[in-house]
Amino acid sequence: MATATDALIYLLNAVWFILPAYIANMMPAIFNKMYGKYRFPVDFGKNFSDKRRIFGDGKTWNGLVVGSIFGGIVGLLQGDFVIGIVLGFGALFGDLIKSFFKRRMKLERGKMWFPFDQIDFILGAFLFYGLTFWEISWGYLILLLIITPALHLLVNIIGFKLKLKDVPW
Ligand code: CTP
Ligand code: MG
Repeated sequence: MATATDALIYLLNAVWFILPAYIANMMPAIFNKMYGKYRFPVDFGKNFSDKRRIFGDGKTWNGLVVGSIFGGIVGLLQGDFVIGIVLGFGALFGDLIKSFFKRRMKLERGKMWFPFDQIDFILGAFLFYGLTFWEISWGYLILLLIITPALHLLVNIIGFKLKLKDVPW
């Protein structure tokens, strides 16, 4: 019979699994102010056919690289560098695709798009993990989709208070 302890262990395993994606997703914002003039938007400043930015200034190559590296580092500490890189890159890729749709919906950079701003990186990480290793834990995915928005908002409020982020989301 499943007990509360079993449930808690399952939750901790899910968070442990996705940790490289969580860390990867936080890093671009933390490193943001250090890029200086070496800040390269993924869309190179270009517009889409609707005359709005493809991804916008919030999505840089710097962020993709920083996120992937930190995903890899966390993975390495956990015992598997490749899994970390896959989850880290997947996280930032999900975030990037999310911004494409935000711009198409005329949402300016930094405007909140709930719940996608909160779960984009989970979806991206699971997608890349699934494509690479050809397996997905649907249980982890569903659980993480449920708990992540609250966790994400909390972390962003802390980032805002630390002046790492301009908005508390
Ligand atoms: N960031 C980055 N490169 C990425 C992702 C994020 O440089 N690939 C940095 C940007 O400085 C960004 C910050 O991290 O402003 C916070 O990320 P996020 O909230 O995802 O971006 P937004 O600025 O809110 O842009 P959007 O509206 O497109 O989500
Ligand atoms: Mg944002």
